[in-house]
Amino acid sequence: MTYEEALARLTSHGQEHLLKYYEELNHEEKEVLLGQIADLDFSLLELIGDGAKQNEKGKLEPLGALTLAEIEEKKDMYEKAGLEAIQAGKVGAVLLAGGQGTRLGLDKPKGMLNVGVHKELYLFEQLVSNLLEVVKKAGAWIPFFIMTSEKNNEDTTRFFEEHNYFGYNREYIYFFIQEMAPSVDYDGKIYMEDKYKLSVSPNGNGGWFSSLAKAGLLDKMKELGIEWLNTFAVDNVLQKIADPVFVGATLEAGCVCGAKVVAKADPNEKVGVLCLEDGKPSIVEYYEMTDEMIHSRDAEGKLLYNYGMILNYLFEVKTLSKIVNESLPVHIVEKKIPFINENGKLVKPEEPNGYKFETLILDMIHMMDNCLSYEVDRSREFAPIKNRTGVDSLESAREMMKKNGIDF
Ligand code: UTP
Repeated sequence: MTYEEALARLTSHGQEHLLKYYEELNHEEKEVLLGQIADLDFSLLELIGDGAKQNEKGKLEPLGALTLAEIEEKKDMYEKAGLEAIQAGKVGAVLLAGGQGTRLGLDKPKGMLNVGVHKELYLFEQLVSNLLEVVKKAGAWIPFFIMTSEKNNEDTTRFFEEHNYFGYNREYIYFFIQEMAPSVDYDGKIYMEDKYKLSVSPNGNGGWFSSLAKAGLLDKMKELGIEWLNTFAVDNVLQKIADPVFVGATLEAGCVCGAKVVAKADPNEKVGVLCLEDGKPSIVEYYEMTDEMIHSRDAEGKLLYNYGMILNYLFEVKTLSKIVNESLPVHIVEKKIPFINENGKLVKPEEPNGYKFETLILDMIHMMDNCLSYEVDRSREFAPIKNRTGVDSLESAREMMKKNGIDF
């Protein structure tokens, strides 16, 4: 793309400020900037102001879960079925590690966080250790896909290499990079993070499967015979990965996906809840629920909208392949976005200063015909690290690690 073409493209969308420093740039920097402008998806910007409409919900109804007691009763049978699937090479694991962890405010990938006290124990390390438990039990390696972003890919891959993949078999690890989206100010003007670079950030965790496909990994999965993918977040230190009981229960239920859920700690807990929307599985966010939905209970006194998501899903690959080209709703999220000001100086704001555009994995659930809602014990499986202090922080996660007998 030439300078003139870029200018014409930007002018028609009111974004010509992005060429403000063009004359100061060297040849390479000019190429980077023009390349980014050529790749821009302006349709995202048109969504601003339209956000609420984008995410309107259909008719919502409660959805129960396969409860802890029910799972316990059939645990051996489920576990056997799950282990057989793993031994047959049908199950892969997908770690979503492309996020920026802005709430935690770390300047490196979240997985590099040292959660240890008397010894070093990194989040990535603990997750691999959790996965290794299943590998040992099954006596088979589980293909392990790791999604990074352009922002953290180098750091992440180097970290794994330096630590010898924390004992995992390198041959079964596949890194892939997710896509990026521009960040804008409240008027929809795209920020710049350098004089030759637009401010872009990872486009949410919803694009994980299409990014996997773009990386050419679907062929690899076919070759390996993978039929199921267990997709999970980087920041839950108690995350059970490729849990054979969960895999077995989803297979036995004949569902095309499964989602691990926890009973809400209290009605107002800020979690997305698994429910039915127009008869199909869906997730309703806490801020989308009416007071009545939040507080309604069944005859036994249990909340009707009771089961919160913990970002641990099992998806059938065949079904994912069918929906890979369907578009997910785009969420417009307020964030703190570093940018260069009118003097060309980098500013790191303390408060949110604009929007990022994200698609979310939870919206994929509504594309599924059915989903096994699978209850887990939060004290054993849910210790997310989202914030610096307080709820869902390193502090609270360490408490839970202690209770689970983890040596750290
Ligand atoms: P969160 O929604 O908690 O986002 O991600 P985050 O980026 O980690 O943290 P904040 O909101 O900026 O503080 C849930 C999971 O999805 C992954 C994260 O790495 C985490 O495992 N994720 C999120 C991606 O892989 N890509 C993204 O673009 C966003």
